Amino acid sequence: MKPLIVINLKTYENGTGYKAKELALIAQEITDARNSNIIFAVQATDIYNISQSVKYPIYAQHIDAIPFGSHTGYILPESVKESGAAGTLLNHSERKITLENLEKSIKRAKDLGLIIIACADTPDEAEAIAAFSPDYIAVEPPELIGGDISISTSKPEVITETIKLVRKVNPDIKILVGAGIKTGKDVKKALELGAVGILLASGVTQAKDPKKVLEDLDI
Ligand code: G3P
Repeated sequence: MKPLIVINLKTYENGTGYKAKELALIAQEITDARNSNIIFAVQATDIYNISQSVKYPIYAQHIDAIPFGSHTGYILPESVKESGAAGTLLNHSERKITLENLEKSIKRAKDLGLIIIACADTPDEAEAIAAFSPDYIAVEPPELIGGDISISTSKPEVITETIKLVRKVNPDIKILVGAGIKTGKDVKKALELGAVGILLASGVTQAKDPKKVLEDLDI
């Protein structure tokens, strides 16, 4: 089973606008050649353009649990869906929301058929989120995000503890791990510990040769 590789472009320069599309097209070449399991989480403004250009799923980085109406500046779930998003990240460490709001957002996303990757900073937070039954929970220790030390090598216990706690609440939720992941070795370790894939950003967006990195990650 191929690992699920979720690339979060955040607001990196290389992950914005036409550069985001260039990266997305490189990933398309790789999925075509290797049958990889890749998802890109892009800025809301890039969803339409990129989802029209690639065959693999494009996700939003966030949605707001608001209905149609007077909500200036919010990200409407229907809007990301209509733009071509197949799913969304929620509660990323850089875009935290309250548990109450997360529950509402998950419900809104589910009603629209959007796949949900809910992020958690800790195993305990993952356990609390599991009660809302997102499709995936991605555990990412905030202090390792954007750095060179990966969760797989430095905090394997966070992965095993998250899997244990989430399974008790809902064994159907799949676990992703993120923070500092850069290599196929990190991916291999994450899978050995029971995750189904990884969530990463800087390892690809800041890479000199993103194609090479993606090929290495796709073990
Ligand atoms: O969403 C992915 C993320 O927060 C991890 O970032 O740069 O450590 O791969 P990075």
